[in-house]
Amino acid sequence: MLSKYSVSVLAAAGLASAQETVLGVYIFSRHGDRTAKSTPPANLTDLGYNEVYTSGTYFRNRYIASDASSRIFGMNSDLVKQSQIVASAPTDTVLQNSAMGFLQGLYPPVGETLGRNTLRNGTSVQTPLNGYQLIPLQTVQTGTNSENAAWLQGSTNCANAQISSNDYFNSAEYLETYNASQPLYDSVVPMVNRTFSASQTNFQNAYTIWDLLNVASIHNSSTNFPNADLLTPDVFDQLFWLANNHEFNLAYNNSEPIRAITGAILANEVVTALNTTITSNGKSKLNIQFGAYAGMLSFFGLANLTQASPDFFGIPDYASTLTWELVTNATVENGKYPSTNDISVRFLFHNGTTSNTSTPTEFPLFGGDVSPLPWNDFVNGMNKFSIKSQADWCTACGNSTGVCASSSDSSSSSNAADNDGGNGGSGISNAVAGVIGAMVTLAVVLGAELLIMLVAGLRVVRKKTLNALRGGHAISPVGSETAQKA
Ligand SMILES: *[C@@H]1O[C@H](CO)[C@@H](O)[C@H](O)[C@H]1NC(C)=O
Ligand SMILES: *[C@@H]1O[C@H](CO)[C@@H](O)[C@H](O)[C@H]1NC(C)=O
Ligand SMILES: *[C@@H]1O[C@H](CO)[C@@H](O)[C@H](O)[C@H]1NC(C)=O
Ligand SMILES: *[C@@H]1O[C@H](CO)[C@@H](O)[C@H](O)[C@H]1NC(C)=O
Ligand SMILES: *[C@@H]1O[C@H](CO)[C@@H](O)[C@H](O)[C@H]1NC(C)=O
Ligand SMILES: *[C@@H]1O[C@H](CO)[C@@H](O)[C@H](O)[C@H]1NC(C)=O
Ligand SMILES: *[C@@H]1O[C@H](CO)[C@@H](O)[C@H](O)[C@H]1NC(C)=O
Ligand SMILES: *[C@@H]1O[C@H](CO)[C@@H](O)[C@H](O)[C@H]1NC(C)=O
Ligand SMILES: *[C@@H]1O[C@H](CO)[C@@H](O)[C@H](O)[C@H]1NC(C)=O
Ligand SMILES: *[C@@H]1O[C@H](CO)[C@@H](O)[C@H](O)[C@H]1NC(C)=O
Ligand SMILES: *[C@@H]1O[C@H](CO)[C@@H](O)[C@H](O)[C@H]1NC(C)=O
Ligand SMILES: *[C@@H]1O[C@H](CO)[C@@H](O)[C@H](O)[C@H]1NC(C)=O
Repeated sequence: MLSKYSVSVLAAAGLASAQETVLGVYIFSRHGDRTAKSTPPANLTDLGYNEVYTSGTYFRNRYIASDASSRIFGMNSDLVKQSQIVASAPTDTVLQNSAMGFLQGLYPPVGETLGRNTLRNGTSVQTPLNGYQLIPLQTVQTGTNSENAAWLQGSTNCANAQISSNDYFNSAEYLETYNASQPLYDSVVPMVNRTFSASQTNFQNAYTIWDLLNVASIHNSSTNFPNADLLTPDVFDQLFWLANNHEFNLAYNNSEPIRAITGAILANEVVTALNTTITSNGKSKLNIQFGAYAGMLSFFGLANLTQASPDFFGIPDYASTLTWELVTNATVENGKYPSTNDISVRFLFHNGTTSNTSTPTEFPLFGGDVSPLPWNDFVNGMNKFSIKSQADWCTACGNSTGVCASSSDSSSSSNAADNDGGNGGSGISNAVAGVIGAMVTLAVVLGAELLIMLVAGLRVVRKKTLNALRGGHAISPVGSETAQKA
């Protein structure tokens, strides 16, 4: 009886996967293995490069390759089609290099046949590096330089979030843990005293101390890791638990949602991008963003994933990925996507490097038990905490200067101009220049040296560009090749 039942369940599962179509995907990934934060500048290591490349290869085999297990509908499998893919990272060496390593796995070199073009005069031109493909990497504003920053909230630039996180250092919970953990920290001073003084070796630096020791335990030879024998598995676990507790509390507090600002911005970026896939009938299909673990922890808290598993209270390992799949069981035709009533979102998470032998796990969002979640329920859930515009960001953050000066002006003077800059005379829209996932700079990957060329054009951001931003399309900075053609 039992075996018969199992067989029919398996058959149903096989059928389901045969009819379900993936329409689009959003991947938010952590960087690979890097050097310690407390010895800046932090760099992606060769190990880290391998981790993100391996993850990229897994996602290629899942979503892109011609024989992919959940191939994205209509996605090019070998030659990159730029309009289908949006890749982004903050201006941070570790995150940008991680994104590029991931993309190399996603779209590997195409070889001599595809990577070749014949000119008018008959000359055949071969792509360098055996058909290496260039994918532009856009920069996001939040999280800039985050892997060199000990305290990630600092790179959000959000005044109220900084105040809220700072309040953690006055909370009873923090002070108790601080006292209780001091003997442990005193015991590790001989291992970290080249970097932290004895008076800095305490719970306040829980993450950077653990990070230094974690990096050393992976990379340092015994001559370069004095007193390494003090780092027993038990001490390591205790330091890790303290670091997790410290960072989760800095990233999320149930009664102060503003603390989780990075997760709130990410939520909007995900909804906007997936919505663009739907409204453009699949013109844009795959979004990949690299970012710091704090944004992940914030999102875990906001989306009640901590109710799905207590693991979500813990820092995701290097190269961890959050994935949102836009899926449907309806028939899909090229150029005409099903109605949103027939579309759902499946959330998956993987802790650490993803590969054939260690694959993502599906989790229900928002503390519920339904997955995949119908599109409208997904949007309603995300809307409970997402921050949607520069004006909302300024209000929530309590910022009124800099990029927020014009949005606070326009909200009192004109509601129509709410978020489109309003100050058309100067041609510069302060409202857009700064924050919410503003992908203002276009960076181009040049060959294996991973050079980033910043294309000029940061100065002027026109309304057209803002609309593109709202739609989640790639931004063409004015003055760039695409903008000139337009
Ligand atoms: C990171 O690389 C830079 C040079 O690119 C180097 O100066 C720096 O020391 C490296 N950081 C670490 C922690 O090794
Ligand atoms: C064909 O055109 C390319 C690019 O302009 C040039 O480098 C090449 O020398 C030309 N070949 C011939 C045979 O004229
Ligand atoms: C918001 O205010 C904080 C604290 O005053 C400041 O550090 C940050 O730069 C401001 N952010 C923006 C985008 O103006
Ligand atoms: C969370 O916020 C509440 C309300 O502001 C505060 O009382 C509490 O101490 C905070 N907890 C932590 C761990 O920051
Ligand atoms: C922590 O220890 C200090 C000094 O020993 C003491 O004054 C303080 O009350 C303790 N705080 C907590 C929360 O236990
Ligand atoms: C660190 O502590 C060890 C053990 O107490 C000591 O031998 C060493 O000199 C200290 N190093 C520094 C840089 O203070
Ligand atoms: C590990 O090596 C790095 C670079 O050589 C050094 O800066 C760091 O202090 C070492 N870590 C420990 C815990 O000794
Ligand atoms: C999706 O985009 C359309 C067209 O821009 C817009 O009307 C709609 O409100 C968007 N939906 C969501 C959930 O953002
Ligand atoms: C990831 O794994 C680490 C152990 O390596 C664990 O402490 C943490 O809770 C996990 N995080 C998530 C989000 O699963
Ligand atoms: C498609 O149908 C299968 C089988 O009924 C179901 O398990 C799966 O969740 C459905 N997918 C969507 C997106 O509704
Ligand atoms: C992983 O799976 C893909 C697709 O099934 C396959 O092409 C690839 O060879 C596998 N890689 C490894 C390392 O098993
Ligand atoms: C998370 O759970 C709490 C309590 O169960 C609920 O009030 C809140 O609406 C949930 N958040 C979301 C985004 O669904």
